[in-house]
Amino acid sequence: MPDCLSRIYILLCFLGAGLLQSWAQQNVVLQSNSPDIVYSPALCNTSAIDTGCVSAWQLVNDVPGTTVVATNGPISQTDYTIPQLFLSFRGSALYLRTSPFSNASVNFSLTASPSELTITREVNTSIENIFAVDIPETQTTTLGITYLPGVSSARFDIEFITLTVANSR
Ligand SMILES: *[C@@H]1O[C@H](CO)[C@@H](O)[C@H](O)[C@H]1NC(C)=O
Ligand SMILES: *[C@@H]1O[C@H](CO)[C@@H](O)[C@H](O)[C@H]1NC(C)=O
Ligand SMILES: *[C@@H]1O[C@H](CO)[C@@H](O)[C@H](O)[C@H]1NC(C)=O
Ligand SMILES: *[C@@H]1O[C@H](CO)[C@@H](O)[C@H](O)[C@H]1NC(C)=O
Repeated sequence: MPDCLSRIYILLCFLGAGLLQSWAQQNVVLQSNSPDIVYSPALCNTSAIDTGCVSAWQLVNDVPGTTVVATNGPISQTDYTIPQLFLSFRGSALYLRTSPFSNASVNFSLTASPSELTITREVNTSIENIFAVDIPETQTTTLGITYLPGVSSARFDIEFITLTVANSR
């Protein structure tokens, strides 16, 4: 992780958070191929790849020690659909771990429901992390990430997503 510490953290602070912070917290790690993460176009799972599935989102093994879900942007086989991912959760913090190869810019948004409060930030994943704190745990939050095609090709990788959630009691 040569550049992690030098990366600028993007802090998204929702107003009204900080309630109920006395609840015990725990971190939950979702690997990039978790079925809770919805990819558009759909990620090809291993059995689907065997039957010829092609997608702008792929499982890639070129990062030492791990498997990531990666995209190089829209492709003709999936009708040039802009790669996006979505994850709905209840938690107070979110961290998305990319890889050292990730250098695309993405739009990163969090939408709380039912308040519909939305925050969007553009993130250059070669220098910035995708990280948010003080998310209101009393609402369901949807993370949305949209790949931003640029003038030169760029890759966006997801290794895992860590959520800070209240302990289930
Ligand atoms: C793999 O993907 C195919 C096609 O998208 C789907 O029909 C199948 O249920 C998936 N299998 C698993 C184990 O998720
Ligand atoms: C990305 O987000 C910015 C606001 O931060 C918005 O102006 C822009 O239209 C968004 N781009 C896409 C492709 O969604
Ligand atoms: C992202 O940051 C890197 C390093 O500063 C820079 O070289 C690159 O041009 C930036 N990408 C975009 C799309 O701005
Ligand atoms: C991203 O990295 C690839 C491979 O190093 C490079 O070819 C490409 O130009 C980079 N894109 C950007 C936007 O920095």
